[in-house]
Amino acid sequence: MQSWRASLLRFDEHGHAVFDRDGLLVTGPGADGRTVVIAAGDHAALQPRYAQVPCTHLPGRLIAPGFVDMHIHYPQIDVIGSPAEGLLPWLEHYTFPHEAQFADPAHAAESARFFCDELMRHGVTTALTFCTSHPTSVNALFAEAQRRDLRLIAGKCLQDRHSPDGVRDETEQSLIDTEALINQWHGVGRLGYAITPRFAPSCTERQLRGAGELAARYPDVWIQSHVAENVDEIAWARALFPDSRSYLAIYADHGLMRRRAVYAHCIHFHDDDRALMRDTHTAAAVCPTSNLFLGSGFFDFAGAERVPFAHGLASDVGGGTSFSPFVTMRAAYFAGRAASTGLEPKPGVSLSPERLWWLHTAGAARALDLEGVVGNLQPGCEADFVVLHPEATPLLARRTRAAGNLAELLFALIVLGDDRVVERTVISQAK
Ligand code: GUN
Ligand code: ZN
Repeated sequence: MQSWRASLLRFDEHGHAVFDRDGLLVTGPGADGRTVVIAAGDHAALQPRYAQVPCTHLPGRLIAPGFVDMHIHYPQIDVIGSPAEGLLPWLEHYTFPHEAQFADPAHAAESARFFCDELMRHGVTTALTFCTSHPTSVNALFAEAQRRDLRLIAGKCLQDRHSPDGVRDETEQSLIDTEALINQWHGVGRLGYAITPRFAPSCTERQLRGAGELAARYPDVWIQSHVAENVDEIAWARALFPDSRSYLAIYADHGLMRRRAVYAHCIHFHDDDRALMRDTHTAAAVCPTSNLFLGSGFFDFAGAERVPFAHGLASDVGGGTSFSPFVTMRAAYFAGRAASTGLEPKPGVSLSPERLWWLHTAGAARALDLEGVVGNLQPGCEADFVVLHPEATPLLARRTRAAGNLAELLFALIVLGDDRVVERTVISQAK
């Protein structure tokens, strides 16, 4: 066993923040030998029971759950910041040409290494990740994550139409490859597989149906895709699948909405779409920096409360502009505020700092069906955590020293923080 003394942030089952200014985190082997949280709480209360356990004292530091990124593309690290009119030209001019390079195992391996380094440097310890359509890209990422014992869920893109040579796959082979990858990687250590139809416009009816059949046959495998991101994309999807009630309903009509299904963006929704998300236990990955960068729109946080469905935060690198959970939480706050303006005023929201933080940790874990496993520091959770330095820059030091309570401290970190705040990322280790 091992213990850590510092300020400590975690969440109760209602999503409320629990804070110990002088806290103690005790970690040790769980039932299967993997490092988990044994105890977390006030130092003075816990210390007598764990007096024999070696303790690392980290004065002035904040220990918090490792961040959970609900949607990111590892092959898009070199696409970040590529300007385009909107989603569809961005895919055509930048994204697909970059992704075509992942047929090369050496390029995939080097990118996977860099990607995992960046996740950990930014304090992200769990990610649901797109690969490309090449199985080599999936093998490269899983091999890298396995080496580090990172909790990673990933999958091969399915895209058998409206995709250029070099990334377009073949219908039957793509489904055979997907099933082989599930059998090779899903449940190996901390790895999970996600069936990954890129988005409805890139998939034939037969490919979507095949993906849905696999989703039924492998119920504990994840599903990931994109939906209702951009007005041109929506019109295209509706024209290609005229029998479905809405863009989102295309996925339901093909057996692709269920627990462990995660759809990125979910911006342009009506309440019947929200109800479909809720009733099928499907989750949304909210991608605020990507939505701002590509001019896609604003996720309606008030709508997701009115007709409640699971959602959490995501970077969506490389449509998104940063790996940093601080940048993402900050953009989510701005996006919530901005939703109140425009020609069709919607109720804007002022998301609290505790809520923003929860949406990127325990809330995101709940949306991924990993509550109690990651994203929190309650006893039994895997011991993935970050050591944050609230005084990492002169301005942060000045501002966080003046914080009178937890909300003020967290808000200062969200508004001013980035990777400089993340002093250390600790990953749970297998026996
Ligand atoms: N829709 C289909 N593919 C993509 C992608 O790579 N990024 C984003 N943001 N949307 C998509
Ligand atoms: Zn995406």
